[in-house]
Amino acid sequence: MGINLWMAQLHFHFAMEIYHPMSIAPFTTMQSFPTFFVFITFACLCYLFKSQWQGKVHKGRKPWLPPGPKPWPIVGHLPQFIISKKTTSVSHWIHSFMKEMNTEIGCIRLGNVHVIPVTCPEIGLEFLKKQDSVFASRPLTMATDVLSKGHLTTIFSPFGDQWKKMKRVMVSEVLSPARHRLLYEKRVEEADNLVRYVHNQCKDSDEGGLVNLRVVAQHYCSNVTRKLIFNRRYFGEGKPDGGPGFEEEEYVEAIFAFIVHLYSFCVSDYLPFLRGLDLEGHEKIVEEAIRVMEKYQDPIIEDRVQQWRNGKKLEPQDLLDVLVSLTDDHGAPLLSTNEIKAQISEINVAAVDNPSNALEWAFAEMLNKPETLQKAMNELDNVVGRDRLVQESDFPKLNYVKACAREAFRLHPISPFNPPHVSVSDTTVAGYFIPKGSHVILSRFGLGRNPKVWDEPSEFKPERHLRDCNEGKEVVLAKPELRLFTFSRGRRGCSGVVLGSSMTTMMFARLLHSFEWSIPASQGTIDLSQGKGVPFLAKPLLAVAKPRLPPNVYSFPW
Ligand code: HEM
Repeated sequence: MGINLWMAQLHFHFAMEIYHPMSIAPFTTMQSFPTFFVFITFACLCYLFKSQWQGKVHKGRKPWLPPGPKPWPIVGHLPQFIISKKTTSVSHWIHSFMKEMNTEIGCIRLGNVHVIPVTCPEIGLEFLKKQDSVFASRPLTMATDVLSKGHLTTIFSPFGDQWKKMKRVMVSEVLSPARHRLLYEKRVEEADNLVRYVHNQCKDSDEGGLVNLRVVAQHYCSNVTRKLIFNRRYFGEGKPDGGPGFEEEEYVEAIFAFIVHLYSFCVSDYLPFLRGLDLEGHEKIVEEAIRVMEKYQDPIIEDRVQQWRNGKKLEPQDLLDVLVSLTDDHGAPLLSTNEIKAQISEINVAAVDNPSNALEWAFAEMLNKPETLQKAMNELDNVVGRDRLVQESDFPKLNYVKACAREAFRLHPISPFNPPHVSVSDTTVAGYFIPKGSHVILSRFGLGRNPKVWDEPSEFKPERHLRDCNEGKEVVLAKPELRLFTFSRGRRGCSGVVLGSSMTTMMFARLLHSFEWSIPASQGTIDLSQGKGVPFLAKPLLAVAKPRLPPNVYSFPW
């Protein structure tokens, strides 16, 4: 342990010398070259000594690290890591070397951090089921630090008292079954607005209307979340047709700018002394995204805190009220204003990305396979009929619709890996040594497209998920056996399974039941290319919608 710490410090100081631009200058002059040479020799000797020492320990007592490409002395895999960023992507590099080495668990060293990618459900379960408590922490990164105001929130906090407090608040107060029932009307209002907004875009022509499904899906998810938290759909005036106004557009754009840079292998997350130099430009983008989100959220939060503290508000009407009104054992507010602000940003990010991305990909795939659209519509007609809209009580019977959503989560996840789980002690998994502080990343692509688990893994085939129904079971979106990755499992698993499933199912069901969808006449098929470096379709999905229910079903009281 002692030698590891000493080596880590030496490595850190040496890396400082190599990467910190301010420290390169001394080695550029001839006078300082001997110092540099002596230093390098000394560092290499230390490194070799460390490797030998570790080797002995490995041979004597501990198993080896999981396989990975050959690391460079001292800097580990940073060179390959940086090259992969310039050429393809870090995720592509990781998946390629794992394929080449024919391994389902790998290891790379970035700075002092061992990153452990996993592509197999059984090994995934060893991490998140058998040894869940060892892998219950999270890394401290630039993006999570900015959003969570110094790691005050649930998803982004490392394991410890702050995480326990916020997790308890989320599970028992914000996302409890009782709260879910109380907020039912608000969810229905947004499901109705979803249909109204699309109907307004296609009701005036017999040919239907062209609809941007990315906008529809992202704003439905953001509207539901905003209604649950702030009891309002819009920050500004919104649009008369039910669509987003400028404020909501700016807000959702900021959420996705943040998501794209969250756990995006930013160099300074592995070499923290680089933070502040913003070599990759991530810091500027993340800080701007959070500034935009807070510009809209914070005035509402501050005003509401005042109302509760002045006794003007006594009954919670939305989730913001719930967060503000919680008290500790002494009757004092449980959460500071900063904790409330940070947690609200986190909920807004957590609730919007997965369902909207799944909807856009699923519809793109289904438009290219019209028989899947037809099957979904047949199921909806059988279960719901044509004289009313889908309601949450219909969900248990909508197995094919849910299978379509699940197939999109399997094939087109919002990110290549899950949020990293950090180990709190040394341990052994799948026969390999996993050092304390390792970042374990389960590959959503690897699990969802693992050919040992799925036949024709790159085909969109919702039917594969109906097998569970043949045993009389309902299709659900959660998959705790990790054969595909939706809500994960264990201590750090998703607390929003019920809300997330209900938002996703409602969006799929209402859009598939209320409208007939087709590819615009100018296009033969939908291009399924993925955008460069982002998880979304390269171009927002445009499709033609036509109402398919009697006109009275689309009449809303507003
Ligand atoms: C379809 C929708 C959703 C999906 C697919 C999803 C997926 C996930 C995933 C993959 C994780 C990380 C699990 C891990 O690290 O092992 C997570 C964590 C979490 N999610 Fe969700 N989520 C969804 C919706 C929501 C919603 C609506 C909320 C709440 C408003 C929410 C709240 C959380 C929280 C609080 C955690 C953190 C748990 C922790 O670190 O202790 N999620 N979610």
